[in-house]
Amino acid sequence: MNILKLLLGLLAGAFVTLAEEVDYEFLRKGYEVYKNNCSLCHMEKASLFDFLKARLKVLSGHRPENIDAPPMNLVSARVKEFFPNEPEFIEFVKDYITNPSKEKGVCKPAAYSFFGVMPPIGQGMSEEEKEAVAYWMYYRYSENWQDLFKRVKELQKKVTSKK
Ligand code: HEC
Repeated sequence: MNILKLLLGLLAGAFVTLAEEVDYEFLRKGYEVYKNNCSLCHMEKASLFDFLKARLKVLSGHRPENIDAPPMNLVSARVKEFFPNEPEFIEFVKDYITNPSKEKGVCKPAAYSFFGVMPPIGQGMSEEEKEAVAYWMYYRYSENWQDLFKRVKELQKKVTSKK
């Protein structure tokens, strides 16, 4: 427990340092772009329980009923796993939403088989809108993919071992 508190403290510290460098005006613009172009499919934030519900469906070979696309907090964490630095992350997102394909995507295979490849929605957006939404995706979330995955598995254990 103490270790956990220490880690949380460190994370909070890291966030404060980070927050000082974030362009909040641009972040707000990115959120507007998200609401207008992405929120129809990507919910902003799945709770660990939403994540588990979707996961249990996928593990049993069914399409999750609670969502239409991977939630944005999971997408952000997943993409950061492959592109941890801001410039590459933004480049990847801008390119992906303009020319999406299963080959270049970094989502888990289940995402493509249950939801299909996303539409090239970026083709109707300006450079600035794409940049802003990618920036927002990077700074809006601070979750770590490995950690999320570990936590969802722990929750799964608890839920499924209950009689
Ligand atoms: C019509 C539904 C829909 C809309 C609208 C949509 N997406 Fe997606 N998105 C998906 C689905 C489904 C996936 C999972 C399959 C895939 O990766 O193509 C996905 C995956 C992604 C991924 C992960 C790519 C990867 O590595 O596989 C990113 C990044 C992403 N979306 C960003 C966005 C952004 C930013 C917007 C808004 C500008 C947006 N999406 C709008 C459905 C949508």
